[in-house]
Amino acid sequence: MLNLRWFRWRLGGALLLSAALLSSCSFEGPQSAFDVAGPIARQQKELFMLTFWLAMGILAVVAGILIYSMWRFRARRSDHELPPQTHGNSLLEVIWTVIPVIILIIILVPTVIVIFETESYVEAEEEDLVVNVIGHQWWWSFEYPQLGIVTANELHIPEDTQVIFNLKSADVLHSFWAPSLAGKRDLIPNQNNQLWFVGAEPGIYFGQCAELCLDGHAYMKFRVMVETEDKFNKWVATFKQEEVQNTAENPLVQQGSVLFQRKGCAGCHAIQGVATGDVGPNLTNFGLRNTVAAGVLKNTPENLATWLRDPAAVKPNLMPDLGLSEDEIDALVAYLLSLGADTEQAVAGVGHE
Ligand code: CUA
Repeated sequence: MLNLRWFRWRLGGALLLSAALLSSCSFEGPQSAFDVAGPIARQQKELFMLTFWLAMGILAVVAGILIYSMWRFRARRSDHELPPQTHGNSLLEVIWTVIPVIILIIILVPTVIVIFETESYVEAEEEDLVVNVIGHQWWWSFEYPQLGIVTANELHIPEDTQVIFNLKSADVLHSFWAPSLAGKRDLIPNQNNQLWFVGAEPGIYFGQCAELCLDGHAYMKFRVMVETEDKFNKWVATFKQEEVQNTAENPLVQQGSVLFQRKGCAGCHAIQGVATGDVGPNLTNFGLRNTVAAGVLKNTPENLATWLRDPAAVKPNLMPDLGLSEDEIDALVAYLLSLGADTEQAVAGVGHE
């Protein structure tokens, strides 16, 4: 026999849990696909909402009829035998076949349109920006073939411009996902994929690898900086300056530049005009970046020192522990933060707790 009290407690608990889970849902947040900032993400959100509200409508109708029937036709103490039984009703069966067919067509048409629009392979026109995205364990390389720029983990794009991403992997499966701008797409070894989107509103948008790629997967983040045309052009110009790597003025920065070569950093990391390593992230204009360690830490002198002191303590990664002394760390921090940035400012923050 059903224990009614036990059942009520269970039901109450389930309802409370559902309410708690629902209340934690939010349309806003740095990595919410509902917080849209571009036409592709908007289209995908609208498609989702259409399907969601139709499903909620069906839930309400079905649950309503079910609850009404349970109450209306419940067994009563006065009932001694089964009520008259009914089998088959052609009109009802036609109705509950036709209605779902209509609902499915309403969902199918926009779904197919959105799939074809976002899946379509786009031939880059002159006004489009092309970015080659290369997924590495566990960071992102962004190459701009039209501009001769290579950078890492922070993607700068101009607003209202169609950006075409050629997606490649250097090792295992990864997935490129900036939820506010577009859906995700896999980076597959030995196969080139494509994705395109438009950033409609200037801002900084979070991105994340969305395909399990072993230890560092959760820390494989990136940022998309959607910028005004003017600001983007200024960023591009920082890569064209002759004196991008200004190391002559300051002794600490100069010492760091020597260490960069001597400690083997240059074997893995490229810096435009200085080093050509391609194992780790390209560090050209590193001083202009907001983050370090693939978006995990803010790019401050303290955080950069923490990273250089023991990279493995920050996150799983392939950078070796170089066994640097504190003085060497200070010099390297000063040098790296001076890249593309103001030398005095870079040096001022070094070595202070
Ligand atoms: Cu790359 Cu997960």
